[in-house]
Amino acid sequence: METLRACVFDAYGTLFDVHAAIRHHAGRVGPAADAISTLWRAKQIEATWLRSLMHRHADFWQLTQDALDYALALHGIQDSGLRADLLRSYRALDAFPDAAATLQRLREAGLRTAILSNGTPDMLRDAAESAGIGGLLDGLLSVEQVGIYKPDSRVYQLAIDWAGVASPREICFVSSNGWDAAGAATFGFRVAWINRSGLPPERLPDAPEWELRSLSELVDCVKP
Ligand code: LAC
Repeated sequence: METLRACVFDAYGTLFDVHAAIRHHAGRVGPAADAISTLWRAKQIEATWLRSLMHRHADFWQLTQDALDYALALHGIQDSGLRADLLRSYRALDAFPDAAATLQRLREAGLRTAILSNGTPDMLRDAAESAGIGGLLDGLLSVEQVGIYKPDSRVYQLAIDWAGVASPREICFVSSNGWDAAGAATFGFRVAWINRSGLPPERLPDAPEWELRSLSELVDCVKP
């Protein structure tokens, strides 16, 4: 079996907590805060798949705003100040508590680290810097380089090109999104699915090699 050279991470939901934006303003959002956060995320990701199929790409920052507008409208919230604050918070999401230590330990084990995300380059830079993990990442790879979203194979190929490896089996791809883990497995990466909330497995063609409850379990799986 090939030696692993790099760990490549999904960003939103995997390293960064997408529900932190609403949580920081939960009092102002009101009783539907959790429902709005869930719908915001679901509509954002749904739009990536639909726009890819429609060949009508718009960047992830646009889709993030569109999805928030839909979720606020469904719940009858019209508050431009709150909308602006939620979007500002989305640019500076909390990293999960074990993200920094995991990246550090992977680097100490000789593995390179990168993000491969639907996010725009600006979003990824803002997120990594505000969460204080920018210095622990060797690469920030955005779908904007290919103009289509995950799980298109052109997106996953960006990680191969960045790492300069011959085979996808030299990369461990890490995602908390079951569909992204499946897409990456179909592409040929070795995949760790971070299943924090104990969701059932996806019913999709290829399964991840590792199913973990936290990022901190990753190092022992991938250490050379
Ligand atoms: C990303 C989305 C899938 O960061 O969370 O690519």
